[in-house]
Amino acid sequence: GKPTVEPYRIKVVEPIPVTTREQRQAALARVHYNLFDLRADEVTVDLLTDSGTGALSAAQLAAGMEGDESYAGSRSFHRFHDTVRELTGYAHILPVHQGRAAERLLASTLLGPGKIFLSNTHFDTLRANVALSGGEAWDLPCPEARDLDSTEPFKGNIDTARLKAVLDGPEGSRVAAVIMTVTNNGGGGQPVSMANLTLTSSLCRERGVPLILDAARFAENAWLVTQREATFRDHSPRQVAEEAFRLADGCAMSAKKDGIAHIGGFLGLNDTELARRCELLLIATEGFPTYGGLAGRDLDMVAQGLTEVTDPGYLRSRADDTAYLAQVVRSAGVDIVEPPGLHALYLNAGRLLPHIPPHQFPGQALACRLYLEGGIRSVELGSLYLGTEDEHGNPLTSAPYELLRLAVPRRTYTRGHWDHVGQALARTVRDAHLIPGLRITEQPALLRQFRSKLAPI
Ligand code: F0G
Repeated sequence: GKPTVEPYRIKVVEPIPVTTREQRQAALARVHYNLFDLRADEVTVDLLTDSGTGALSAAQLAAGMEGDESYAGSRSFHRFHDTVRELTGYAHILPVHQGRAAERLLASTLLGPGKIFLSNTHFDTLRANVALSGGEAWDLPCPEARDLDSTEPFKGNIDTARLKAVLDGPEGSRVAAVIMTVTNNGGGGQPVSMANLTLTSSLCRERGVPLILDAARFAENAWLVTQREATFRDHSPRQVAEEAFRLADGCAMSAKKDGIAHIGGFLGLNDTELARRCELLLIATEGFPTYGGLAGRDLDMVAQGLTEVTDPGYLRSRADDTAYLAQVVRSAGVDIVEPPGLHALYLNAGRLLPHIPPHQFPGQALACRLYLEGGIRSVELGSLYLGTEDEHGNPLTSAPYELLRLAVPRRTYTRGHWDHVGQALARTVRDAHLIPGLRITEQPALLRQFRSKLAPI
């Protein structure tokens, strides 16, 4: 439909830097073509992530002023607890400083050598936490996810046939939990249907395997369900979200996304024994269970954000915003993973730059050119992120696709910013055949996308 008017106006503004092409050229060389090493004040439009980068509402700031900084049992904790409890229904709610802390608690209590997590797609911090606890992370994305161009509505689903086969097969007894990531960030930001979640839930419950939501974008998933799944057309996003949480046995939540907060998260669990073990770790490593590494004001701002995020007016406006950017990107002649979700667009860099082979990192090459053209920061999701090479640089494993993610911070940028992205992208496309590939000159042992150094070829 036609874009609706944004349901808010701007009360506070923050200047953003405008740089020259020469400054950006010099910055790229200085950071060795790794955009994580840029200073933020060298970036004009920052689409690196939608995590912790959204604009707070006046009501969230006001809630922050009410923050109670008592070490134990603060009013802020009780407000936070009641809000999360009402939304999710879980018996035990443990605040944590961000999503990956909840993942670490879960992975270190549920996993160990020989144990497996199954998922539609593990997000990379969860995958790293599974590896650190000695377990294995198996991704079972649905077959529709393989076709980037298809407009199938729920390409974030788990492959329930494979899930059932694994659970009932020889490895079944090694499965410690099934993790459903909503929306599926590692899989193009695609949503999971309630039908898929319901079937997964009954497969898990019949076998006594815990089902945990990675709920970072639960409200965006719920919105897409109301738009794309006929049974839920007349439900509110809040109703869908509540039902989704209740189909699972717990959740790990990064409130930096659909909490619309700058920091925060929680672990929700129904299993009392599991919650007790997580709580011990929480006290040792995050903080007392009524603050979990957060300030009282953070707990209050998260609680307020969680009530705003399922507002249909807000979600519709966010969907319109991302749809507008998607149109800008397509008009520049760049294909994206279809259909676009809400939190990010995934550009098909491999298709745009066919002269750059996967291990010369077309996604990263495109990220660098987009920064050079318009001061825009984005993140590669291709063979720099997922691939490996031998000591001579020969490819060992490649990513399935060479993508570049443009994440959309919540309530932060306007259509003027998106038009600027469109113009920079159009210039990038015009000279696409001249964009050089990159080679790695230095890299760490784990999560190399954050710390590698590269050079143009
Ligand atoms: N789960 C999902 C699906 C995520 O996207 C993220 C973070 C996390 C968990 C971890 O949460 O950052 O609070 O520790 N994603 C960010 C991103 C970093 O850019 O996609 P965290």
